[in-house]
Amino acid sequence: MSALTIFTSAAATETVSVPATRVSDDRPIPAVLGADLEVPVKGGRLVPYANLDYAASAPCLEPVSAAVAAALPAYSSVHRGAGYASQLTTARYEQARHTVRAFVGARPDDAVIFTRNTTDATNLLARSLPTGTTVVVFETEHHASLLPWTDVVRLPAPAFPGEAVRAADEALAAIDGPKLLVVTAASNVTGELWPIAALAHIAHRHGARVLVDAAQLVPHRRLNLTALDLDYVVFSGHKLYAPFGTGALIGRADWLTVAEPYLRGGGAVKAVEDEGTDWHDDPEARHEAGTPNVLGAIALAAACDALSATGWDVLVREEERLLTRLRAGLADIEGVHELSLWGPDHARVGIVSFVVDGFTAREVAEALSGEYGIGVRDGKFCAHPFVRHLLGAKDGGCDDVTASAVRASIGIGSTTEHVDRLIGALRDLVTRR
Ligand SMILES: Cc1ncc(COP(=O)(O)O)c(C=O)c1O
Repeated sequence: MSALTIFTSAAATETVSVPATRVSDDRPIPAVLGADLEVPVKGGRLVPYANLDYAASAPCLEPVSAAVAAALPAYSSVHRGAGYASQLTTARYEQARHTVRAFVGARPDDAVIFTRNTTDATNLLARSLPTGTTVVVFETEHHASLLPWTDVVRLPAPAFPGEAVRAADEALAAIDGPKLLVVTAASNVTGELWPIAALAHIAHRHGARVLVDAAQLVPHRRLNLTALDLDYVVFSGHKLYAPFGTGALIGRADWLTVAEPYLRGGGAVKAVEDEGTDWHDDPEARHEAGTPNVLGAIALAAACDALSATGWDVLVREEERLLTRLRAGLADIEGVHELSLWGPDHARVGIVSFVVDGFTAREVAEALSGEYGIGVRDGKFCAHPFVRHLLGAKDGGCDDVTASAVRASIGIGSTTEHVDRLIGALRDLVTRR
């Protein structure tokens, strides 16, 4: 059993014991819910589900579910109620903000705003940019980071990491006025890690700020916003083993303090007079109008705590072991091609996209599910320009199955058997060509 500390009020804490499945270096890796899920396959048999779709949404960690269950009996409104349960829930909500701040190594004066997800967080920042801000973004981004901007320079996929830095340097140098560089930390298509520290450095040399889309990084690697000198990061709870509908925008408070409130309504105001509305200056209050998703925030914080308590060295080692096995297995099957922007040796997290000669991605994904009980994603992964680039494809739109790929992604709860089942299934499949 492992212990998760949950703050129940500013003064008191309670400890909830949660089961752990595996122990590595004496530090328990928490279990995920649904590890024993069985799913029907062709012929009506039930088989254990092999979830290889973590990059879309990761399963819920047991400590996350336990934290939500522990918070529910006293669940009440936040920020406004005088009752004890309301104070308790408010304390838990604000403690969650502290935990998330610490998890990404944010500066003490950074804003930590709870949003619905990464998409919501990037859109909030997009609405908060100073007038005249130009955004520089690579075409390799997920749509959540590619599309929210109005005044935008879109750069082509760079051929190597240094080229990304050079292209950003050149683009930012050509822009007058406020500027923002938007870059993903780990690709949701290839898993490849982007040189975010070098890009932040270049951005700052040009007086620009940098937003890092960390949706696919934080489930796999430690991120330290202060050490990397990033201005903003965004991510989603549901990819971080906390599928309760919360994400976060974390970063410099000044733009957010003066921006028009993202949502207009209760909680965002100091006063509403006949003459006008006085909005909160505090960025969290200003941009979190209405009743927030308290349980989502508690869940997100519990996930942060659980990952930190496990230790990144333990998590990364286990992921690397499975990822190496997965990629080696794929490379060994004739007609299976892994997609990669910067080559097979570039560092990446546990996300692999591939195509199979003679089959559409949909045919592969359906066969994996229907015959082997394996869940993967197929399509363009909300990164149409990037997938087109990787496949050298023309734009056939969302329904163009020929310009799509299959994505397998792993995380806590993934096993050697899951990986071997995928490789075995693909081997079977290619013999049917
Ligand atoms: C890199 C990246 N950014 C942003 C998003 C959007 O996340 P959400 O759907 O939680 O808003 C995703 C989701 O797949 C992603 O992988």
